[in-house]
Amino acid sequence: MAITGNDIDIAKEFLLKGELVAIPTETVYGLAGNALNDNAVLSIFEVKNRPAFDPLIIHTDSLEKVQHYVSDFPEKAFALAKRFWPGPLTLLLPKKQIIPDLVTSGLDNVAVRIPNHPLLLELLKALPFPLAAPSANPFGYISPTNAGHVNAQLGEKIAYILDGGESEVGIESTIVGFENDEPVVYRLGGLAVEEIEEIVGKVKLMPHSSSNPKAPGMLKSHYAPRKPLYLYERGIFPAGDDEITGYLVFDKYLESIDLKYQRILSKSGDMKEAAHNLFSYLRELDTLPIQQIRAEFVPLNGLGLAINDRLQRAAVKD
Ligand code: TXA
Ligand code: MG
Repeated sequence: MAITGNDIDIAKEFLLKGELVAIPTETVYGLAGNALNDNAVLSIFEVKNRPAFDPLIIHTDSLEKVQHYVSDFPEKAFALAKRFWPGPLTLLLPKKQIIPDLVTSGLDNVAVRIPNHPLLLELLKALPFPLAAPSANPFGYISPTNAGHVNAQLGEKIAYILDGGESEVGIESTIVGFENDEPVVYRLGGLAVEEIEEIVGKVKLMPHSSSNPKAPGMLKSHYAPRKPLYLYERGIFPAGDDEITGYLVFDKYLESIDLKYQRILSKSGDMKEAAHNLFSYLRELDTLPIQQIRAEFVPLNGLGLAINDRLQRAAVKD
């Protein structure tokens, strides 16, 4: 087990030495190291068992600092940054040389975000470098939304877990890049597309294209529980199998199924609440004495798109 606490001085000390610390963010917990230190970045890949071609997001606490790391800031990128940072938005921007190629897997753009979590912002403010941080889960597994999740899987491998409570948003940041200065969404996430479009107008969605080298993290078995997950249209589950099946339902419990085998994302049908619960409920179902998990798609408004995206990527593929 890693030492767990909420002391940013301890976290800072480990990070200054090039060691890794798990950090709370409003989206999911991150596995953080000094983004400007090749060795720290290498250990992130190692601890996560992550392929080196899958680049990392850097985190910092102010727009001013971001300017040290990126060489261009298109107008629409700046408008989004102004409106949504700190928050669940990651921007892909041309990197300055100071950002190691290891961080971007050799790409010209660096992914950057200012997260919205008071404890983490305080830590970032106290650090003389940005933090590279992927989600703090072994590669391919469900992202962690509290310190316990991190400890369960990576506890043996990291120096310290900075405990900032439950991640409020519950799914990863929305990733936005730019083509000819026009925004393109490469990963659906905790900031709804509608909100982005209110600021910059219609955006292109390219979250799944296999011909899209800009999102190498979009691999098949991402976000997956250990138990096989099967997906169904809303309200249309096959009958029976309760003893061996866990159910992830959107807003209504299934009457014929024992409650202990069910998790309900949001009784009031609230998309933010559903996103907040998604990963921790998948984890809970994954630890029940069952053989499979069934989930229903959620409606497509707000964060519903991102929730269905995660379900699809966690599900068994034909
Ligand atoms: O909410 C989040 O974004 C969390 C918290 C910890 O900030 N982080 C996170 O990181 O989800 P990770 O590494 O699990 O996912 C980052 C995604 C990957 O799919 C990666 O391929 C993509 O961002 N990415 C990172 N840098 C990139 C770049 N330079 N160009 C294109 N895609 C990039
Ligand atoms: Mg991840």
